[in-house]
Amino acid sequence: MSTNPGTKLAIVGAGSVGTSLAYAALIRGSASHVAIYDVNATKADAEVLDLAHGTQFAAASATVTGGGDITAVDGADVVVITAGAKQAPGQTRLDLAGTNVRILETLMPQLLQHAPDAVYVLVTNPCDVLTVAAQKISGLPAHRVFSSGTVLDTSRLRWLLAGRAGVALTSVHASMIGEHGDTEFPIWSGATIGPVPIRHWKSGGEEVFTPEYLAQAGREVTMAAYKVIAGKGATNYAIGLAGTRIVEALLRAENSVLPVSTVLNGQYGISGVALSLPSIVGHGGVSAVLDTPMDDGELTSLHHSADTLQKSLVALGV
Ligand code: LAC
Repeated sequence: MSTNPGTKLAIVGAGSVGTSLAYAALIRGSASHVAIYDVNATKADAEVLDLAHGTQFAAASATVTGGGDITAVDGADVVVITAGAKQAPGQTRLDLAGTNVRILETLMPQLLQHAPDAVYVLVTNPCDVLTVAAQKISGLPAHRVFSSGTVLDTSRLRWLLAGRAGVALTSVHASMIGEHGDTEFPIWSGATIGPVPIRHWKSGGEEVFTPEYLAQAGREVTMAAYKVIAGKGATNYAIGLAGTRIVEALLRAENSVLPVSTVLNGQYGISGVALSLPSIVGHGGVSAVLDTPMDDGELTSLHHSADTLQKSLVALGV
């Protein structure tokens, strides 16, 4: 895949998520230069070396650098923040908020000194809460500091639906929106497979996506991370790939529609809370949050998500 010359992706955090993102970005050629920074210099150095040893087999011209010095992020075009405490089995993402907000309070000012013109993407959880915190700490405009939000959850949903319909994932147009967490939900109003509304999709004359199945699919996506964490201790590959998708939309100025999480400013009557809605992602960040049609039930779910996140922000004093 072609890559804009001289694009630099900096990844903060050399844990399983950060290194999976780096690995995916090198293979996909998401950026011509991938840099990893972690306060644990020994770990960061080893991860950089291990990745560098494989660059012959990665996308052309991909280079990887980094280590324990924050100068690793110097001049980055995109900074993806993956550092912080991660969910323990059974723990919710919101349970991590206090610890990870405190990390941001120190980290954001340091990063801005070294990458003042970057677009900042929060992956660390709870990513919606941390997006509000990062935007306030940094003073950056909302379009330049956002989170991966439900981009991963949407991928999980499309994987489920594509498998049941027997079609390519790229032909499934459905999204999870709201909190990247327990109050996220699928929007079925505009969901289609190719040009066919999902509720009209039939196989052998039979309805494939019954209301019962759609409700179950939404629950399965919402619980997906818990299931993976229970089995392997963390999620990393899918979020790494989701992160590269966002990075590519930014660095290739794609203006792609992705359900990233930005701090809202009156959309659907919501302000001061970050949550995921289909948005346009391209050069310089998020250029628009789309006015996606929703039915009354979906609007109720959206406000429930917003209220849940607002309560967390108030409790944290963010
Ligand atoms: C997950 C993590 C990234 O959903 O929150 O896998």
